[in-house]
Amino acid sequence: MSRKSIQLDEQVYRYLLSVSLREAEILKECREETAKHPMARMQIAPEQGQFISFLITLLHVKKALEIGVYTGYSSLAIALALPDDGHLDACDIDPEITTIAKRYWSKANVAEKISLHIAPAIKTLDRLIEDKQNETYDFAFIDAHKPEYIDYYERVLQLIRPGGLIMVDNVLWSGNPADETIQDEDTVAIRLLNEHLHADDRIMLSMLPVADGITLAFKH
Ligand SMILES: C[S@@+](CC[C@H](N)C(=O)[O-])C[C@H]1O[C@@H](n2cnc3c(N)ncnc32)[C@H](O)[C@@H]1O
Repeated sequence: MSRKSIQLDEQVYRYLLSVSLREAEILKECREETAKHPMARMQIAPEQGQFISFLITLLHVKKALEIGVYTGYSSLAIALALPDDGHLDACDIDPEITTIAKRYWSKANVAEKISLHIAPAIKTLDRLIEDKQNETYDFAFIDAHKPEYIDYYERVLQLIRPGGLIMVDNVLWSGNPADETIQDEDTVAIRLLNEHLHADDRIMLSMLPVADGITLAFKH
């Protein structure tokens, strides 16, 4: 029995990409522009974007939610995989950085599928709940302010339909949650979220060591 996931050194990672990545030209362009940005490491990895597109297609997702847009790579991966009548509600707090995302959405002809909500995500999620959007979303991706992860998750769980899927990013946070001597705010928040989800019988759970760690939570 194989007990642990393989460590991807640079050579193995390059190999993985060389035999599996099928990145749309527009995603590549967005990734290359983002790479010049000082906070480029915030963008998801391209194989993760491909996995998101894969899940959107596999699950026939029509209505999606994203918390944390940045320069738009993950939202683009979602929107490109949605059907023509699909829709993405994308939440971010930063009106400036998301102008880059909006430019790529237009260039990819997916802008009409996306509503950008510029506000603290908790406020946007509360408004969607007030607007009776509960149990209407098929898929949600959580990738914003780590100390608020449980607050996002609890709201998103209300918004997602039974049988819908939530993906949470950065759940392994460079390995820091496994080291109890590390007690910074982000690490503690992710540790608490992981424990919260592990104990949550409203969902089926799978944590994968993809990129910085992702958790898939399937709502019963
Ligand atoms: C890790 S980045 C998202 C990366 C994006 N998913 C991608 O793959 O390119 C996190 C984003 O969350 C946004 N953010 C931070 N705090 C937020 C909050 N309270 N509400 C909404 N968005 C927030 C930041 O502005 C930033 O764009």
